[in-house]
Amino acid sequence: MAYISWSSELEIGVACIDKQHQRIIADINDFHEVSHKTDQSEMLIPVFDEMVAYMAQHFAFEEELLEEAGYAFNKAHERMHSLLLKHLDEYRERFKAGENVLPEILAMLASWWQHHISHDDANYVAAVNKKFSGTNPLAEEWLSATLKMHFAGRDA
Ligand SMILES: [Fe+2]
Ligand SMILES: [Fe+2]
Repeated sequence: MAYISWSSELEIGVACIDKQHQRIIADINDFHEVSHKTDQSEMLIPVFDEMVAYMAQHFAFEEELLEEAGYAFNKAHERMHSLLLKHLDEYRERFKAGENVLPEILAMLASWWQHHISHDDANYVAAVNKKFSGTNPLAEEWLSATLKMHFAGRDA
């Protein structure tokens, strides 16, 4: 069974973001699965790094989207993102130094992401939809160019 199951509560209704969030949850589930097969840091660190790299890509894209949408709490939202990355960096160092922080990392990731998506991200939906919904060709153009820029050559 998946460590975190995807549910409608995690769907915020912004298609490209939902897709990215799904990938993040899948990455956490994969990391969880690998961590049951091995506790060797040489095996786990690359999987961890890939997972975090995609999270950072998602954050960069989302922050630009919020900026473009003129979301009022953009800066506070950015701070939440950077705080998570900072925590993950600290965990990575502790794990590398031989501390058994895996269960803690996984529990933190599960609760952070579930809360962040269903509360913090859900809060910006109205602002984003106002800017991007309907038939606004310029907004569509911006979206596809920005997706390409952040996820070039990779599945967004
Ligand atoms: Fe966010
Ligand atoms: Fe997000």
